Amino acid sequence: MKLQNDLLIRAAKGEYVERTPVWLMRQAGRILPEYRAIRNQMKSFLELVQTPQLAAEVTIQPVDILQVDAAIIFSDILVVPEAMGLPYEMLEKKGPYFPRTVASVQDVQGLRVAQPDQDMPYVMEAISLVKEQLQGRVPLIGFAGAPWTVFSYMVEGSGSKTFSKARRMLYQEEQMAHALLQKIADSTIAYLKAQINAGADLIQIFDSWAGVLPKDHYLKFSYPYIRQICQSIDEVPVTVFAKGAFFALEEMGKLPCDTIGLDWNMDVARSRQLVGEGKTLQGNLDPCALFGNQTDIIKQTEDMLQAFGPGRHIANLGHGVYPDTSVDAVKCFVDTVKEFRH
Ligand code: CP3
Repeated sequence: MKLQNDLLIRAAKGEYVERTPVWLMRQAGRILPEYRAIRNQMKSFLELVQTPQLAAEVTIQPVDILQVDAAIIFSDILVVPEAMGLPYEMLEKKGPYFPRTVASVQDVQGLRVAQPDQDMPYVMEAISLVKEQLQGRVPLIGFAGAPWTVFSYMVEGSGSKTFSKARRMLYQEEQMAHALLQKIADSTIAYLKAQINAGADLIQIFDSWAGVLPKDHYLKFSYPYIRQICQSIDEVPVTVFAKGAFFALEEMGKLPCDTIGLDWNMDVARSRQLVGEGKTLQGNLDPCALFGNQTDIIKQTEDMLQAFGPGRHIANLGHGVYPDTSVDAVKCFVDTVKEFRH
């Protein structure tokens, strides 16, 4: 079905747009009371992720309520390790937890390359349902974690301030680390292809923990696997968001992808210089700016739009929206972008 609002896709490709498209990372979720109502009926986060009808419903909620220019499929980056044979739980108020982790060569060998249609069919079913129900209103974003970020959870077993267990492996067991990263990359490529087949219009890769690596490790253990993924996808535009990877922006500019996500610490003009003119930039309002009053939100959003300039920009926050952000503040951000003209 032809998209009625294809601003996101045109902006990603560097084509003409009448105005800047806008969506928010983590827009489907706890900021919306309508999400919490559905979530509270479920035993767990995983149950919601694995129930396509409900995953589709919460995917579309922000399109209806916030009037954003894109939907992002409701799932998690951790469905990939689960599909590889490493199950996870989502602990209330604590976040992801892996009862088993990867610590040895045997552990890596024991994992399989995910077969998406067999190991996580519920994601593709949810995508098909969303596409059916959206009726082309806005594009649907599919996503996956970057191999390094997924690796860090599989080795660490949970979130961490330092990810020192995962980082230790890069220093002590280089070969093993590469074997695991390659298995994750292969799984991710198969997974993203399946999402595109099911109807995803654009793909975003989240490298949430890029910023804990020194540049040489980033270029050795994260960047090459992101490159493999970008190279394998030519059906739809690809966005790479590597949080904290200001040190690698020049290299990111050389990835075979369409859009680079910026976090709020990255200077827009400097980032543009480093990335070059050939890519769209996405971002990068400080998520905490949405805790300000309405006048300040409008001002900060307009300043951001001005900094990016016309064209080749997708408005977003510099990271996922925080759960305690008010819906009115998010609406104010979205409306400001939609009313702004360069
Ligand atoms: O709206 C959307 O963006 C779509 C859904 C989505 C979720 N997770 C749902 C979710 C997306 C794109 C993700 C990506 C994700 N998951 C990332 C990368 C983006 C980022 O924020 O850096 C990461 C690192 C994860 C792993 C993860 N999942 C963590 C660390 C946590 C706990 C902390 C937190 O942010 O909530 C989750 C849980 C999670 N994933 C929730 C949701 C809605 C909250 C759990 C719940 O509602 O019960």
